[in-house]
Amino acid sequence: MLSEKAVKEIEEITTRYPVKRSAVMPALFVVQKEYGYVTEEGMREVAKILGLRPILVFEVATFYTMYNKKPVGKYHIQVCRNISCSLLGAEHVVGIIERKLGIKVKETTSDKRFTLSEVECLGSCGTAPMMQINDKYYESLTEPMIDDILKSLK
Ligand code: FES
Repeated sequence: MLSEKAVKEIEEITTRYPVKRSAVMPALFVVQKEYGYVTEEGMREVAKILGLRPILVFEVATFYTMYNKKPVGKYHIQVCRNISCSLLGAEHVVGIIERKLGIKVKETTSDKRFTLSEVECLGSCGTAPMMQINDKYYESLTEPMIDDILKSLK
């Protein structure tokens, strides 16, 4: 069950919009912050708070890649695989990370520190190839940079 603080936060978010349905996306981020990922229970709670049918929340949560549908590691590495990043070496970036962490895409390291995902455009095409780790962007990636970034997270 969502904490009282999280429920209050969602209720406050609804005041920013003319209709409660518009608050679904930020409300799902509250759920993700609370549980670490978007649980079915969390989606149902959002629907209840916003007075919506649960399917209206489920369809948003399952459409967007920024909502984790299962637990992720302490550091969630999301490598953009869209066109600009792919043309400038996203596949190479993924390969480097897989090799350094010993996992494949969609996997989490056994110590639960890192999860590796491939995602669609993160809106930073001008600094491709890029990745997002938790809430932070890392851009114009090179192998030495990736090495330094991963080392800094251990
Ligand atoms: S294509 Fe990678 S950020 Fe847009």
